[in-house]
Amino acid sequence: MDSLHLLLFLAVAALAVQVSLQGPGERRLFKDLMTDYNPLERPVSNDSQNLTVELGLSLIQIIDVDEKNQVLTTSIWLQMQWEDSYLRWNASDYTGVTNIRFPQDLLWKPDILLYNSADENFDATSHTKILVNTSGNCFHLPPGILKSSCRMDLRWFPFDVQKCELKFGSWTYGGWSVDLKLLQADTSSYIPNGEWDLVEIKGQRNEHTYVCCEEPYPDITYTLVMRRRTLFYGLNLLLPCVLISTLALLVFLLPADSGEKISLGITVLLSLAVFMLLVAEIMPATSDSVPLLAQYFATIMVIVGLSIMATVVVLQYHHHDPDGGKMPKWTRVILLNWCAWFLRMKRPGEGRPGPARHDEAPQNSVTGVTSVDLGAGAPAPQSTNGKLLYVGIRGLDSIKYAATSPDSGVLCARLAGGAGEDELLLPAGHGSPAGSVEPELAKILEEVRYIAKRFRHQDDDKSVCNEWKFAASVIDRLCLLAFSLFTILFTIGILMSAPNFVDAVSKDFST
Ligand SMILES: *[C@@H]1O[C@H](CO)[C@@H](O)[C@H](O)[C@H]1NC(C)=O
Ligand SMILES: *[C@@H]1O[C@H](CO)[C@@H](O)[C@H](O)[C@H]1NC(C)=O
Ligand SMILES: *[C@@H]1O[C@H](CO)[C@@H](O)[C@H](O)[C@H]1NC(C)=O
Ligand SMILES: *[C@@H]1O[C@H](CO)[C@@H](O)[C@H](O)[C@H]1NC(C)=O
Repeated sequence: MDSLHLLLFLAVAALAVQVSLQGPGERRLFKDLMTDYNPLERPVSNDSQNLTVELGLSLIQIIDVDEKNQVLTTSIWLQMQWEDSYLRWNASDYTGVTNIRFPQDLLWKPDILLYNSADENFDATSHTKILVNTSGNCFHLPPGILKSSCRMDLRWFPFDVQKCELKFGSWTYGGWSVDLKLLQADTSSYIPNGEWDLVEIKGQRNEHTYVCCEEPYPDITYTLVMRRRTLFYGLNLLLPCVLISTLALLVFLLPADSGEKISLGITVLLSLAVFMLLVAEIMPATSDSVPLLAQYFATIMVIVGLSIMATVVVLQYHHHDPDGGKMPKWTRVILLNWCAWFLRMKRPGEGRPGPARHDEAPQNSVTGVTSVDLGAGAPAPQSTNGKLLYVGIRGLDSIKYAATSPDSGVLCARLAGGAGEDELLLPAGHGSPAGSVEPELAKILEEVRYIAKRFRHQDDDKSVCNEWKFAASVIDRLCLLAFSLFTILFTIGILMSAPNFVDAVSKDFST
């Protein structure tokens, strides 16, 4: 009997009662029925027969699904129906009274309880009256907010489907005294829940026989299957996490000179930690199975952590101290040759024809200036880095000053010399005509050698630095590639591994 029938019946019953209100029929009926009625007595005509209780329920609402405490709260109307052989009367004898209501403690009533109740009072149903019709059929419809313990498996959270059981049975009677008959659950007055889709609610009659006795103990178990609606969690947890993990990849695109690489990485890690706390708040503190979402967060967190480590290595390479030495051979081969080739990266300046030679040039030309060319009288000053070196005779101090500031690539100490600059530089040897000039020239030569050495060192340092910097950028690019691949693979792999991922996404995100 579904609830519609029941309502109809109640309406008819109410009408009948109105009719019966005219006379003292009901008063007499109660008196007649209750004179030798004992609520302790099981109301069967033959004691060796069992009494069948039909049990059904209407699901009104799923109020709360508490994953942390594993408690399901539902609003339910129970429906029990049995035949009391002592409550029969002929309506025409009692001015047409066709049904009467009894407070439940005046009648015998099956002690049917929710076995897996998690309520403080255990029995959370309200004590409504029992309706009896002329043929002794008793209807008991106790509504209640039932809290039931339910083992929830959050392995696939937030793409999970939960199955919760509501097990009803008589607490003291066995099957030979009180038998249970299943009435299927009714969901015609179900109020949809925002977070959960009701997939189905299905009842089943079970019989347990315990070791002690032959008597079977029947129970009726309703299984409530519900699917979590994913939109909320997708929008509030998954999307930010995917976004954050993408941000973590940007760490590798950020130039090392900006000095923000590490702080970006740490910020990403922190924000992930905040989201993970949110997830942990919902989850029960169990280690049985790691929820999908927690797994995903942990994986992304590991990836971000690794990317920070990689960034530290990159920065270490980028800001490598040139005095720290040259790159080890194998590192150079792997990073600068193989990886750079694989990533199609070119060294800075490799594409341009001019400066490419420039790396090689200074070594020869500078030595040329200091040793050979000066003596030979060639136009020597055309030397270091292709910049003109003007040296004046009275400017030795200035030259020293200029040479001590290595930042300037250009050394240009143009001084007020009386004669042409070229001439002054030329005679740097023994065959000098003017003996008095010779020591000064020697001094100049020494200074020039010093300057040239500085330049050479500078260039060497610079090329070493450039090499390290290039290695750093190769590592950066390599990490960007590898981590992008990892992130995409893990995101797809973990999320798609949920059994009803496609189902959840197609249902929730389409509406
Ligand atoms: C009660 O039922 C049993 C079996 O159903 C039967 O043998 C017995 O005669 C019945 N007793 C009465 C008083 O009807
Ligand atoms: C009820 O009582 C009336 C009159 O006394 C009688 O005619 C009718 O057959 C009775 N009905 C039943 C079900 O016993
Ligand atoms: C009493 O209720 C039962 C169960 O619904 C029904 O079969 C029976 O016909 C009803 N009796 C009367 C007199 O309406
Ligand atoms: C209850 O009684 C009915 C009919 O007499 C019988 O078919 C059923 O098996 C009994 N139930 C139990 C649990 O013994």
